[in-house]
Amino acid sequence: MRPLLCCVLLCVGCGEAPPETVDVGGELEPVVAATAAPVMPRPSRGRGEQALRANAECVGCHHEAAEEWARSRHRASSSNDAYRAALAIEPSPFCQGCHAPEAEDPRVMEADELGVACVTCHVTRDDEVLAAGPIDALEPSAHHPIRRSREFGHTGACASCHEFRFPHASGDGDDRFMQTTLREHAASDAADRSCASCHMPTGAHDLSNVRDPAWLRRKLAASAALDAFGVLVTLESRAGHAFPTGDLFRRCAVGAELLDARGRVLDRDVRYLARHFELAPGQPGRRLVADDRVRGKSEVLLDLQPTRGATSVRWWVSYQRVAHTGDGREPEAAVLESELPLHEGTLPIAPSRGTK
Ligand code: HEC
Ligand code: HEC
Ligand code: HEC
Ligand code: HEC
Ligand code: HEC
Repeated sequence: MRPLLCCVLLCVGCGEAPPETVDVGGELEPVVAATAAPVMPRPSRGRGEQALRANAECVGCHHEAAEEWARSRHRASSSNDAYRAALAIEPSPFCQGCHAPEAEDPRVMEADELGVACVTCHVTRDDEVLAAGPIDALEPSAHHPIRRSREFGHTGACASCHEFRFPHASGDGDDRFMQTTLREHAASDAADRSCASCHMPTGAHDLSNVRDPAWLRRKLAASAALDAFGVLVTLESRAGHAFPTGDLFRRCAVGAELLDARGRVLDRDVRYLARHFELAPGQPGRRLVADDRVRGKSEVLLDLQPTRGATSVRWWVSYQRVAHTGDGREPEAAVLESELPLHEGTLPIAPSRGTK
């Protein structure tokens, strides 16, 4: 075994011991002693230069993982435009803790280009490389110590960054949380499945499937039918949590248009499935007024009554990343960062209904 990492990452002996507590949004979480179960990846690791050097070593040996990671949003978590724009509005060390977890001093706002790095997820404070898989697996050819952990291979590698409260919020209600992916996963049919089983199929580190319309389409089935009260869209999610999960500004648009024989739009209705927050005037924080994201099977009724001249209904489902919500009151006014069309279809209207 080559003492590869100890010179680089073993902070404990080098006079720059990281703090005993990790400050995330004003909350102090105790760091578990080294002899206990390994501490899982978390925000605000703050290993700066050392992390940069050690990460270059991982990249130098693990070419495939490195190439995938280089394309990932984890790699770009502190440098992508969406984050940079949001940080400019709300500059806070709280944000940097997750988006630039290896930045040495989170109060320094310069970009830490490393993002969520190999070392952030894999290298513990005791300089072991965390890995998934059975605890007693042998590592005959590894060039460094490996610590196998079931927790790491289930949700532990992701948990502390993918569920967190609003800055300065306390309490356990869903409305206190900016992201709730972990509790959604725990309450889902896929609770036994690891995050990686869907997001890192075959160990891939690029997380690219969440931006692949074909994959998303398979994970959210949709069909539509005309109903006495409008257009009924039935959705069925196979995600391991609410669909959509993650950031506050993700939503599914479910819409339909009433068309005449020449394709002109006579009427239109669109519903946005999301966590819906409201700013309470004069009060700090946001109030969660509704959460109509898809969990398992759900139905959306669009209010479209066939009128004179209507010959068909066009319906669609899309996945939207919202850049900003405008004044927040009118969902149609939101500016989109991207939109992935998932499903669409046309329903003919029988003449008797169309001429009512
Ligand atoms: C000198 C080359 C070398 C360096 C540097 C290196 N590794 Fe490895 N690593 C290996 C070899 C060889 C194995 C065992 C064979 C395999 O699984 O690829 C291994 C195994 C692993 C495994 C376990 C794979 C499994 O079987 O589950 C992980 C995780 C890992 N390395 C991560 C890292 C990380 C993170 C870094 C940087 C901190 C790193 N490695 C640095 C060569 C290296
Ligand atoms: C977001 C956290 C995260 C980051 C960042 C990350 N890994 Fe991993 N890595 C994991 C998890 C989780 C697994 C186990 C996946 C599974 O259960 O199949 C894994 C598996 C591995 C494996 C074994 C399986 C394989 O793909 O060969 C190696 C080697 C590895 N990672 C190396 C790296 C290297 C090198 C980097 C940086 C270039 C890196 N990882 C970045 C979380 C991460
Ligand atoms: C140190 C914190 C941290 C850890 C640990 C972490 N993530 Fe992330 N993850 C982030 C941040 C920050 C982003 C947002 C990047 C950005 O700005 O778009 C992100 C984004 C993602 C995305 C969205 C990718 C995209 O293209 O939009 C997925 C999926 C994801 N992470 C899955 C995982 C999984 C699975 C694990 C565990 C194996 C994990 N993450 C561990 C911080 C983390
Ligand atoms: C059964 C498969 C499955 C499992 C298990 C799963 N996910 Fe997902 N994940 C999905 C699908 C499908 C999407 C895309 C739709 C959505 O946002 O829900 C997604 C989306 C995401 C996103 C949003 C990415 C974006 O583009 O905004 C994040 C973050 C994420 N998952 C993290 C996790 C974490 C963390 C876990 C484990 C606690 C996990 N997922 C478990 C299937 C899964
Ligand atoms: C505890 C970890 C954590 C903290 C703290 C955090 N984020 Fe994030 N952020 C994430 C994760 C995880 C995602 C990915 C979720 C997804 O893709 O749906 C994300 C996604 C984002 C995105 C979306 C990027 C895109 O692709 O559209 C933006 C913008 C963002 N965060 C900005 C911020 C800002 C600004 C702050 C500080 C106010 C902040 N974040 C604090 C973990 C964190």
